[in-house]
Amino acid sequence: MKLSFGKAKSSVGLDIGSSSIKLVELKQTKKGYRLINLGLAPLSPETIVDGAIMNSPAVLDGIKGLLAELKVKTRDVVTSVSGTSVIIKKVNVPMMTEDELITQIQWEAEQYIPFDINDVNVDFQILGPSDEGQMSVLLVAVKKDMINDYTGVLTEAGLNPVVVDIDAFAVGNMYEINYPLAEGEVLALVNIGSSFININVCRDGISIFTRDISSGGASYTEEIQRQLSLSYNEAEAIKKSAGVEGENTPKEVLDIIGVVSDSISAEFQRSMDFFGTTNPGVSVNRICLCGGASRTHGLAGVISARLGIPSELVDPFKKVECDPKIFDPKYIANLSSASGVAVGLALRMAGDR
Ligand SMILES: Nc1ncnc2c1ncn2[C@@H]1O[C@H](COP(=O)(O)OP(=O)(O)OP(=O)(O)O)[C@@H](O)[C@H]1O
Ligand SMILES: [Mg+2]
Repeated sequence: MKLSFGKAKSSVGLDIGSSSIKLVELKQTKKGYRLINLGLAPLSPETIVDGAIMNSPAVLDGIKGLLAELKVKTRDVVTSVSGTSVIIKKVNVPMMTEDELITQIQWEAEQYIPFDINDVNVDFQILGPSDEGQMSVLLVAVKKDMINDYTGVLTEAGLNPVVVDIDAFAVGNMYEINYPLAEGEVLALVNIGSSFININVCRDGISIFTRDISSGGASYTEEIQRQLSLSYNEAEAIKKSAGVEGENTPKEVLDIIGVVSDSISAEFQRSMDFFGTTNPGVSVNRICLCGGASRTHGLAGVISARLGIPSELVDPFKKVECDPKIFDPKYIANLSSASGVAVGLALRMAGDR
């Protein structure tokens, strides 16, 4: 962590998700963090598919629109990637220093990465000693093509991408500034977006398991659209109105939402079962949900019931100072669940590893 003294710099997190771009600008204060900017620009379906940018002019337009609308002056930004081009693995390597590992990481990574090592950027975090003479390392590899696509569009928008993070880790950083960590508690941080569910299981603030599931809010919209012959926008609107006071959502819609929630929670359970078999004796105490689709009517309850673990919705701005004279609390409440990743990104300053 780079320490900054004197006048705190503000930093921008830009989360390019498959359904929308989220921008969060935070400034570090004596007490914590203050919100400087918050905005969302929707993207049409097919703009980003499986985490890959298919239509960069549309993403560029979205970013430029946000920068102009919010009058953002900061140029350094932190963004993130997720999906199947991102490989995160906990591996054992012989005990060595961080500097030694930097020179050896390509070689160590080669055995664990299913892509050509020359096509990926590799990063790591030393987690601590494991077996005798060995240490546990969290290895992260992302396809260079994907990083270039993301940083390219940012550069084109006149921005300076300083860090490319991973969605699941950003959610961990966001959680840490907002909620106290209870010692020994095992948390499953789950970001339910439009096309991905990013899972990050943490103990004492350290990530012990991550996985991205290809599912999310878009599954509800697509199913409603298909079964009721509606347009994408109609299906999206009817989905969001479910469970809202004063809305009379048709029973067929509630039924479809229930079926999709069941399948999402079954998929989540499979990941948690896998976590259980690879981490014997460790059980998750709490499920913390964020992401736009975590607001889906009934979903948190369905997940909780299926896993028998309490779940709650995380507020990414819980401890962030938000001036109500600048930001309408209703505006923040509406964007907050989708802003978890962007808040986590804005927390990372230039120079961070
Ligand atoms: N009130 C709501 N009720 C139900 N679903 C909602 C609500 N608000 C947003 N969503 C859904 O949340 C999803 C968007 O969430 P989010 O912004 O976290 O995803 P994303 O970052 O664009 O996608 P991804 O990370 O998967 O690429 C959409 O599917 C949207 O329909
Ligand atoms: Mg997202």
